[in-house]
Amino acid sequence: MNDIFESLRSRISQINVIKQVGRIVELTGGTLKISGLSQGASLGDRVLIHSEGNQIGGEILRLSKTGVTVLQDGSGEGLAINDSVEIVGRAEIAPDNSWIGRIIDPFGKPIDGRPLMPGPTVRSLRGAPPAPASRRTLGERLETGTAVFNTLLPLVRGQRIGLFAGSGVGKSSLLGKFARGVNADVVVIALVGERGRELREFTERILGQQGMARAVVVTATSDQSPLVRRRCMWTAMAVAEHFRDQGLHVLLLADSITRFAEAHREVALAAGEQGNLRGFPPSTSHTIMSLAERAGPGAEGSGDITAVFTVLVAGSDMDEPVADILRGVLDGHVVMDRSIAERGRFPAIDLLRSVSRSLPDAANTDENALIAETRRLLGAYERAEMMIQAGLYATGSDPSVDAAIKVWSALDGFLAEDAPAGITDSFKRLDACLALARR
Ligand SMILES: Nc1ncnc2c1ncn2[C@@H]1O[C@H](COP(=O)(O)OP(=O)(O)OP(=O)(O)O)[C@@H](O)[C@H]1O
Ligand SMILES: [Mg+2]
Repeated sequence: MNDIFESLRSRISQINVIKQVGRIVELTGGTLKISGLSQGASLGDRVLIHSEGNQIGGEILRLSKTGVTVLQDGSGEGLAINDSVEIVGRAEIAPDNSWIGRIIDPFGKPIDGRPLMPGPTVRSLRGAPPAPASRRTLGERLETGTAVFNTLLPLVRGQRIGLFAGSGVGKSSLLGKFARGVNADVVVIALVGERGRELREFTERILGQQGMARAVVVTATSDQSPLVRRRCMWTAMAVAEHFRDQGLHVLLLADSITRFAEAHREVALAAGEQGNLRGFPPSTSHTIMSLAERAGPGAEGSGDITAVFTVLVAGSDMDEPVADILRGVLDGHVVMDRSIAERGRFPAIDLLRSVSRSLPDAANTDENALIAETRRLLGAYERAEMMIQAGLYATGSDPSVDAAIKVWSALDGFLAEDAPAGITDSFKRLDACLALARR
């Protein structure tokens, strides 16, 4: 009962009693100049433009004493000088524990047709990360539900990893596996810039009831304005922080950082920044890094945000700007390879190009030895693969390749396995694969 009152109180406190109304005075270069709103406006405020019976959203991009600059959702067609503009909300959100199991838009509105209450506390969408000195180090190893992440690429509490892959190689499917299988209290999922039909496919088929039961899904589809798509990622992060601050372990799954960066690029170019990093404006790095920095281990007394960010890389271009910026702030990266997906092995992880920086600390001596042996064998196989497949490799010419050939098929199968029985069992199964080489 108290919760309901708190929630109502929070909702009432967010209502603007005095409405400030501005007017459009200039429409040039894709943005709008508004007079009469400078007092009380803040950067990032949401506005509503009233134009001949239509209402169009927008956001404040620049502020000066003489006026504010607004980027409107959509093309702005039909807008006219003197149309009225009002501020409708700050760049804030009031998440609530009752949001678990729900699908929301970047403004905290439900899109699954059922009512949704805001929580008691309003949080900034662009909150600060925990102070570095108060932050815990990476935590204990997590059960992930998949053999490869239980062993060779361990995921620990508070770790931030990236999934780098081309389109259609299986990023979203792997996120779904994490949502169902990783040991966490709450899962927050940001779906930025997906096609409309993909939302249903993700929530119904990939996540399923089991995944939805502990998840909050925040979504903005590709047809929505860049402002809304960019906000989607910040809202998801603020929701994750809400749960983290209650001492919970949150798994944040962000699909994709590339779409977030592209949305930011559109907004920043409209605000007058120049694109330079292959079309991305300079603020892109800071925007991505400050987002990633908010995930990770919490301060003493709070929980942690373990995060998985997907990055779309064209071909295998890992130097592409978004991939390059993100790699610098992550504690691990997982590369997925189209040729592996094409031969039907999922998740299509290219193990030799993937690393988890939680190693070697996350595993004991015996486990680290198994991991090193696996990498050695897969490396030996990869170096000789063309020869082996062409039938040109003569058994006996290289003992490490002979050993690798014996284990390859078992290891390849292991990389695709689910791991319902846990980490210890996964290492036993890995050891059994490697034993084939010792025979
Ligand atoms: N574990 C799996 N088992 C079988 N098939 C899979 C698996 N994971 C992915 N696939 C296949 O790969 C296709 C693409 O997967 P998914 O949508 O996860 O890729 P994506 O990288 O997220 O794609 P996009 O770039 O379009 O978002 C699926 O439709 C399915 O055919
Ligand atoms: Mg996808």
